[in-house]
Amino acid sequence: MFQVPAPVSVPVRSTESTMANSEAAQPDLPPSLVLTNSEASRPNQKFYEMIQEFRETLEITPVSASDLIEPHRICVCVRKRPLNKQEVNKKEIDVVTIPGKGALLVHEPKHKVDLTKYLDNQVFHFDYSFDETATNELVYKFTAKPLVQSIFEGGMATCFAYGQTGSGKTHTMGGDFTGRQQNSAKGIYALAAQDVFTYLNHRRYAHLELSAYVSFFEIYNGKVYDLLNKKAKLRVLEDDRQQVQVVGLEEIYVSTAEDVIKMIEMGSACRTSGQTSANANSSRSHAILQIVLRCNDRASTLHGKFSLVDLAGNERGTDVSSNDRSTLVETAEINRSLLALKECIRSLGMNSDHIPFRMSTLTKVLRDSFIGEKSRTCMIAMVSPGMASCEYTMNTLRYADRYT
Ligand SMILES: Nc1ncnc2c1ncn2[C@@H]1O[C@H](COP(=O)(O)OP(=O)(O)OP(=O)(O)O)[C@@H](O)[C@H]1O
Ligand SMILES: [Mg+2]
Repeated sequence: MFQVPAPVSVPVRSTESTMANSEAAQPDLPPSLVLTNSEASRPNQKFYEMIQEFRETLEITPVSASDLIEPHRICVCVRKRPLNKQEVNKKEIDVVTIPGKGALLVHEPKHKVDLTKYLDNQVFHFDYSFDETATNELVYKFTAKPLVQSIFEGGMATCFAYGQTGSGKTHTMGGDFTGRQQNSAKGIYALAAQDVFTYLNHRRYAHLELSAYVSFFEIYNGKVYDLLNKKAKLRVLEDDRQQVQVVGLEEIYVSTAEDVIKMIEMGSACRTSGQTSANANSSRSHAILQIVLRCNDRASTLHGKFSLVDLAGNERGTDVSSNDRSTLVETAEINRSLLALKECIRSLGMNSDHIPFRMSTLTKVLRDSFIGEKSRTCMIAMVSPGMASCEYTMNTLRYADRYT
């Protein structure tokens, strides 16, 4: 089992604000009629004020670059993105607070039977929690970076980005966006690649005589497509020794981090995307970038492998703008594979002998990354801050929380 940090002392309770009581005395009019000040146009103004009032009682200590990095076999973190432009324009309220030290609070707006408003403040604990000001570099430092060393020591490492559509998985793994343009040098993929080359050139590992290779593929509707070879459809086969192979997957030799960034750009451009209510450029597949270390012997023996996975969004069928049959199949398949992944990580966390990797293509192709003493896993759960996303945020947190 991975270790859960000691809970921070946040006064979690159900908050029924004095404002809510004063409001209860007024007829239940739309907020625009009840309020006369300059912020009267904000929907849910009362909840906004109650959350602000609650936040003032908290001691906030965000993760800082100088904090100690603790080793974990399975590490689960959470990252909150900032409100986006549309949400700010709609004056949506932010219902997620990160007090620091791995804690996250969701202030769920609720009504009593007499319509009094109250906040159901729920606390979750992870290994690390990153607030909306955290950069990809900071998130990387505490999540994927500690795993790079393990692949040089002959291990397997996997880092997943999980979360609702539009919550920031592709931003975190692939790099931040300026409009539709993505800065591939600033994502966890590229940051990990940079460190791989730093280690490769380090005298401590030079005697191993290793070379790095990259493969990049997506899993869409349970099928594997090679993102570095014109989206060729590939077969997944399991031999009699239970070794799973993606037959014909391109594995390209790379000698610099820039080479890897080029592959990321090339592969990301042909990834299957679509539109959801929360993201105009939504990834509809799981994308897996693998950095493979092989010995420079004649057999190119595998030494270690780092799989960096940008999962498809865990939304419901109704969130995707078109609800034709193929979209529903797509969503059902995404959810099925995410459940399978959860089962595998849970089994890993319990040190179980049986890992149910056969449940989906995603878990099958990651099988060799799950097994072995030296395997290390990190899950970054992304959450959107807005009140409209509250239910999804809770689902994401429960998904990640189950391993504790
Ligand atoms: N931490 C962040 N800071 C600033 N902007 C962010 C952050 N996270 C996400 N965004 C922005 O939010 C939008 C959606 O993010 P992204 O495409 O990464 O979501 P996603 O989780 O990959 O969604 P999907 O499952 O639909 O693919 C992007 O425009 C992205 O730039
Ligand atoms: Mg995405």
